[in-house]
Amino acid sequence: MKSTQVFKNLVFVIGIFCTFFCVIFLLYTAAILYSAQKCREKLAKTSQEKPAAAPIGNTVQDYYLDVLKKHLVRYDSDAYIPVTSPINKWLAPYDLSLVRILPAQHANKLRTDGRDWPADQAETMIGLKRLNNLEYCIKDVLKHNVPGDFIETGVWRGGATIFMRAALKAYGDTTRKVWVSDSFQGVPKPDEKSYPMDVDNGMSENKYLMVSLPQVKQNFARYDLLDDQVRFLPGWFRDTLPTAPIDHLAILRVDGDLYESTTEALHYLYPKVSRGGYIIDDDYGALTIAKKAVDDFRKSQGITDELKPIDWTGVYWQKH
Ligand SMILES: C[S@@+](CC[C@H](N)C(=O)[O-])C[C@H]1O[C@@H](n2cnc3c(N)ncnc32)[C@H](O)[C@@H]1O
Repeated sequence: MKSTQVFKNLVFVIGIFCTFFCVIFLLYTAAILYSAQKCREKLAKTSQEKPAAAPIGNTVQDYYLDVLKKHLVRYDSDAYIPVTSPINKWLAPYDLSLVRILPAQHANKLRTDGRDWPADQAETMIGLKRLNNLEYCIKDVLKHNVPGDFIETGVWRGGATIFMRAALKAYGDTTRKVWVSDSFQGVPKPDEKSYPMDVDNGMSENKYLMVSLPQVKQNFARYDLLDDQVRFLPGWFRDTLPTAPIDHLAILRVDGDLYESTTEALHYLYPKVSRGGYIIDDDYGALTIAKKAVDDFRKSQGITDELKPIDWTGVYWQKH
């Protein structure tokens, strides 16, 4: 009699537990589906824009560079965005992941504007508009024979520098180098003493920004663009840039996210930029610390060359 009662109680308790977990699971799934639907609706409203990237010109080189830009950002591909959920931690050991599918027509808007951190294989997060700007600057310095190499400080998976190397190849320039400058281990811990602007916002812990040197080299190789004209500067900017064996630069592209990283790139490399060359900052509109670093630097150097917007975040100026 007693054991039957215990059994009944046990079944009751297990029943309560199961019901509880089922309800939680259903609520959780509903929340994921609801947020995915909201996201789709929001993107549907904003994704009407036509692609920004028509080839700049109509030569074979223009078409090659256009196809490359689109591939580097994975334009016109569905994006698979891992759902932020503990479920993915449990699935990871089995090489599985719960993802939200962002259909290409929605992803295109993000990739045109460079607004997401691509979860797919895209080699750059800077988007088509900023790649178009890079192409414009490269063509201009080649056309006007502005002396110097090209550099990006803060390359992530390398896409913008892959594009620089491709442009040199397309136009048969065998003299200039492309410098690929990164820690290849993400953003440094903020040095709040020297750069109080940089507060610890967890960016230095962000594994997503940590792309290794072999991985970046492999990305260059994927496009047959890993050769002697590409030079890597692995390490923190404060250690590598002061002694980098660079004589002149025609293009300095700065994309290091922090006040420190932006300032150091400008401080060590701006003096090497030739007249007629370009300075591009990727983070100006997106990060107030980067904007402050650029504004402070320009002010301290008395630079009055017009600062022009590229898109919602990027800016550039030509050194006169
Ligand atoms: C936003 S990502 C760059 C995105 C890239 N330009 C692209 O085309 O997608 C920032 C990069 O800057 C690097 N970085 C930031 N501060 C740095 C520093 N002080 N020294 C070395 N690398 C740094 C990070 O490792 C990261 O790869």
